[in-house]
Amino acid sequence: MIITNLKDAKQILEAGELLAIPTETVYGLAANGFNGKAIAKIYEVKNRPQFNPLILHSNSLERFKEWGLFLPEAALQLAKKFSPGPITFVVPKSELIPDIVTAGHTTVAIRIPNHPLVLELLAQLPFPLAAPSANISGTVSPTTALHVEKQLGKLIGGVLDGGACTIGLESTIVSFVHEQAQLLRLGGLSVEAIEDVLGMPLDKSKLINNDNPEAPGMLSKHYAPATKLRIGNPEDFLDEYNYDEMGFIAFEKANPNIPISQQLVLSTSGDLEEAAQKLFGAIREADRLKVKIIIAEEFPNEHLGRAINDRLSRAGRN
Ligand code: TXA
Ligand code: MG
Repeated sequence: MIITNLKDAKQILEAGELLAIPTETVYGLAANGFNGKAIAKIYEVKNRPQFNPLILHSNSLERFKEWGLFLPEAALQLAKKFSPGPITFVVPKSELIPDIVTAGHTTVAIRIPNHPLVLELLAQLPFPLAAPSANISGTVSPTTALHVEKQLGKLIGGVLDGGACTIGLESTIVSFVHEQAQLLRLGGLSVEAIEDVLGMPLDKSKLINNDNPEAPGMLSKHYAPATKLRIGNPEDFLDEYNYDEMGFIAFEKANPNIPISQQLVLSTSGDLEEAAQKLFGAIREADRLKVKIIIAEEFPNEHLGRAINDRLSRAGRN
């Protein structure tokens, strides 16, 4: 059921049911972060591995402090500049936080999402919201209420409609548990922007392209469409497929040889932010074309292009 009213949203959460929430990155599947039973439903509905911890969301750092969660100085600098926004901080966990949130880890991931409706909801709630992306594990993350409703509508209490996500990629995750800040996941805030504020490089050694024990959710198979997806240029695939059998996800320009109805151009002006915002929707649309293969162009490996390439390479392990 798609809803738009905060009172209904609150009721669903207070009853221990699951509510899909809009954020600026992707839609989240939220439960009361202090209610272990409600949180267990998230794992069940998503078919999410039990070892994969969840992000806690609230509307301010003060709230997190009340719950015993503190940011070290470097993280505070980032939060000042970018929160609310597409960055998640991994910090030591407090006793108040149920182990099911952190999947038994001694650290917890926290984030302040930048979406007016959800900030208002969070301000009215006496608890944080535990929320992973609102999709079945392994499939593309949702960036509209309808994406969630179609996949999970019958299994959850409701979907709070807050429009299309403005960033379109999950948050960038940075861990502050060790001396040097560690980048755990590329995402909607660029590495360049983060390093600029920190005045030093992030440790990227924990950012592994496949199964990463430090961010257990970064399993190699993720964001997978049903149709085979590969990264490259259409020309490279002519041995096996002809142009009519291809779908193409392009950055700026369509390919002159592929039927135009089978192509998704993400930003004709070459804007990486616009491309990021449209990426997951484009993967879904390409999947509906019923082509034999979806080819996605490689993006420039800078700013949000890095996170786009990361998501495409995961989608391409199908
Ligand atoms: O933008 C986002 O971050 C969205 C919206 C809904 O906030 N959420 C999201 O959640 O992408 P999810 O569950 O799909 O991805 C969370 C990632 C997973 O890879 C998980 O392993 C990692 O965060 N994570 C959570 N807690 C962690 C922790 N304590 N240490 C390391 N990684 C953690
Ligand atoms: Mg996810």
